[in-house]
Amino acid sequence: MSQDIYLTGITTTGTPHIGNYVGAIRPGIAASQDKSKQNYYFLADYHSLAKNEDPDRISQSTLEIAASWLALGLDTENAVFYRQSDIPEIPELTWILHGMTAKGLMNRAHSYKASVQANTESGSRDPDKGVTMALYSYPILMAADILMFKATRVPVGRDQKQHVEMARDIAQRFNHHYGDVLVLPEPVIGETTAVLAGLDGRKMSKSYNNTIPLFAPEKRLRKLIMKIKTNSLEPGEPKDPSDSTLFDIYKAFATAEETAAIEQAYADGIAWGEMKQTLFEYINTHLAPAREEYDRLIANPAEVERALLAGAEKARAIAGPYLAVIRHAIGIRPLG
Ligand code: TRP
Repeated sequence: MSQDIYLTGITTTGTPHIGNYVGAIRPGIAASQDKSKQNYYFLADYHSLAKNEDPDRISQSTLEIAASWLALGLDTENAVFYRQSDIPEIPELTWILHGMTAKGLMNRAHSYKASVQANTESGSRDPDKGVTMALYSYPILMAADILMFKATRVPVGRDQKQHVEMARDIAQRFNHHYGDVLVLPEPVIGETTAVLAGLDGRKMSKSYNNTIPLFAPEKRLRKLIMKIKTNSLEPGEPKDPSDSTLFDIYKAFATAEETAAIEQAYADGIAWGEMKQTLFEYINTHLAPAREEYDRLIANPAEVERALLAGAEKARAIAGPYLAVIRHAIGIRPLG
């Protein structure tokens, strides 16, 4: 069995928050430094068209996400870090895969079905109201992202597992029809990576508007942490760490020993105000060096652009020749 190839895609909508950091960015960066692996990391900016986001928002998000990964130490020598829209081979492969994708398969995609259900529930006469073709065929673009680089392992959250399985189905059908050309990917679901709760105790997510931005300036960070929901137990009353967002966030950053000490503080009845201050100081100290580099990169977007273009060059050196093989397999060939 040949070496596994890992591929991670990040949609360019929104500002990275500490939930993204502990769930995806931190493990991804650690993996990028593993010299025994060939990893791909990319900004899925064409995917952001599915929901017709504000253009300035998409551009700003692209800068923020790229600057975050770079500031935190993504190893761009070892890994390939690029922006989807810099790789024209990807949309080209997307169209090729359209020919091997059953419409019925797309009908079954969760994200499409959720839109149809929302329309039906709101009493709309058109079940496809507001559904663009970019939303509908989103899984085909994602399949192209994955198959273009022969990725075998795709780390995703639970909500994206079906998309990776669809990429596999599409590749299988392609190979059945045209010969053994595409490599079948597998989703990797992070069972052990932390899922953080947000300010209100629900899962930290942009859609709930309850996030703590990863590189919020110090004052804002403190203000947000002070807002985290707690219960009404008084100082001196023992508190339960297993039912505390403050504790969960602390644990996601701290060492096992530090976490044990805080557990003891909970048993001893630490006041919520004091715990919030402790958490703020911990996270602030932990993130300060990367935040400084992040701020520097945000002020120097041309430097981020250069890093992405260098990554695109590496990516295209792999995608170009492979796409030529794929085109040949489907009968799109030079005529002599
Ligand atoms: N759809 C993914 C998400 O929203 C992002 C993504 C796009 C992706 N293409 C990908 C993830 C390819 C993994 C592989 O999270």
